[in-house]
Amino acid sequence: MQISDYMKDEHRACDVEFANVEKGVNAGDFPAAQEAFENFMLDTLKHFQKEEEVLFPDFEAASGNTMGPTQVMRMEHDQVRGLFEKMKAALDAEDKDEFFSVADTLMILLQQHNMKEEQMLYTMCDRFLGAQADTVVEKMKAV
Ligand SMILES: [Fe+2]
Ligand SMILES: [Fe+2]
Repeated sequence: MQISDYMKDEHRACDVEFANVEKGVNAGDFPAAQEAFENFMLDTLKHFQKEEEVLFPDFEAASGNTMGPTQVMRMEHDQVRGLFEKMKAALDAEDKDEFFSVADTLMILLQQHNMKEEQMLYTMCDRFLGAQADTVVEKMKAV
């Protein structure tokens, strides 16, 4: 399996989970929205962990590039983590307006982040780590 395919599938799965959060809030069903948010957040954080603990270090080792794209991606992960806190607070307060305000910011950040990874970083990972792709994917599955 190509690294990029494995990672893109996870992006898509998280998009679906986020749509479920919005569905819950739109319906005014905050318990459902909170449960959907928990799933979305945990899976997104797990995906970040796979990147930060396995994919980025392996890419940096193979490419010799430690200060470029992976550093930007790590910073953006931290921004997303901050927005998760705000989103959780909005859901706990059942504040629909605040939720959608945070959701807009989060979606723009996450879509741009994922696009950069898919169009640039994952493509480079396939190139630099292609020979060990199966091993890298197995390591990420074990996270
Ligand atoms: Fe990422
Ligand atoms: Fe990613």
